[in-house]
Amino acid sequence: MADISDRKADHIALALQSGHQAQKDSGFDRVNFEPNSLPQLALDEIVLASNFLGMETAAPFLIGAMTGGCDNAERINQHLAEAAQAANIPMALGSQRAALELGMLQNIRRWAPSAILLGNLGATQLQQHGLDLAQRAVDSIQANGLVIHLNPLQELIQPNGDRDWNLVLEAIQHCALKLSVPIIVKEVGAGIGPGSAKRLLDAGVQWIEVAGRGGTSWASIELARNSSAREREIATPFIDWGMDTVKLIPAVQAACPTLRVIGSGGVRHGLDIARCIRLGAHMTALAQPFLAPALDSTDAVMGKISILQEQLRWAMFLTGSQNIAELRLAPLQ
Ligand SMILES: Cc1cc2nc3c(=O)[nH]c(=O)nc-3n(C[C@H](O)[C@H](O)[C@H](O)COP(=O)(O)O)c2cc1C
Repeated sequence: MADISDRKADHIALALQSGHQAQKDSGFDRVNFEPNSLPQLALDEIVLASNFLGMETAAPFLIGAMTGGCDNAERINQHLAEAAQAANIPMALGSQRAALELGMLQNIRRWAPSAILLGNLGATQLQQHGLDLAQRAVDSIQANGLVIHLNPLQELIQPNGDRDWNLVLEAIQHCALKLSVPIIVKEVGAGIGPGSAKRLLDAGVQWIEVAGRGGTSWASIELARNSSAREREIATPFIDWGMDTVKLIPAVQAACPTLRVIGSGGVRHGLDIARCIRLGAHMTALAQPFLAPALDSTDAVMGKISILQEQLRWAMFLTGSQNIAELRLAPLQ
């Protein structure tokens, strides 16, 4: 189990380095709104409030999954959770696998008694341990939903990663049907394509987080951790594997109009949040941009949230959108 803690510490250190962000242009800069020079509203009339899992949030973005908090990163989760509570922004935990396997108490609710909190497990843990583990993940933090991550490329590159992905969809289907809270299925940076999204929808999943290419590159991070020359040579052509977030959101919406989509993977500021919403996302998520503030303090995370909100408000003002429903219809160039 020390392995998992060491791996998490490596992930945090490497994710902070710009070299492990997607090297190709993410495509966000090519999604341009038509400027509205006559907004006909006041900046402070703009309403960012959104609905997520049947609850109101202050804005249409959440703190993306990073750490389950079973390692030295507990204070990261404290800062994120306190800020999520104060700002009414949902927070997704990182993988709870190690905490559950170690039987560790995950008392994150003491920092975020009423925030929307999402648990997290890998799809292969679900395939191996079933609904019981999923329900424990939810109950241990009184989660409002459970995020299940799909990361087949990361598992291939990671030393001793899970390589048997048989029956994963069946395990997800079982959870979608039986778990006490809604599930959200996500990738970690290669993106859930429209074909996979359709199979998830058919299995009863109502929310996916696309986590497309454009931001944190898990292939790059795992490659940096893998010391085997042979495995590195095999993995290198796959470094840019995946589909861009800005292409995925409309493609998934077109293939699965009833699926609720969280836009993520390379969302770096409030204008990117606006772009995702305009492309069809119901919500957005940012992970890496919260990492440095989370290592610092609750106030730093609050400061980041407030900047994202103000950037989103500016994007809405400059497109003449008074609320999120109007932003969805704002003309693009
Ligand atoms: C340090 C770090 C740890 C992460 N750990 C998890 C995890 O445990 N579970 C998960 O589903 N995603 C995890 N992710 C992936 C993110 O939730 C997100 O999908 C991905 O980083 C792409 O978003 P970004 O470009 O905003 O970072 C992690 C990301 C970072 C930066």
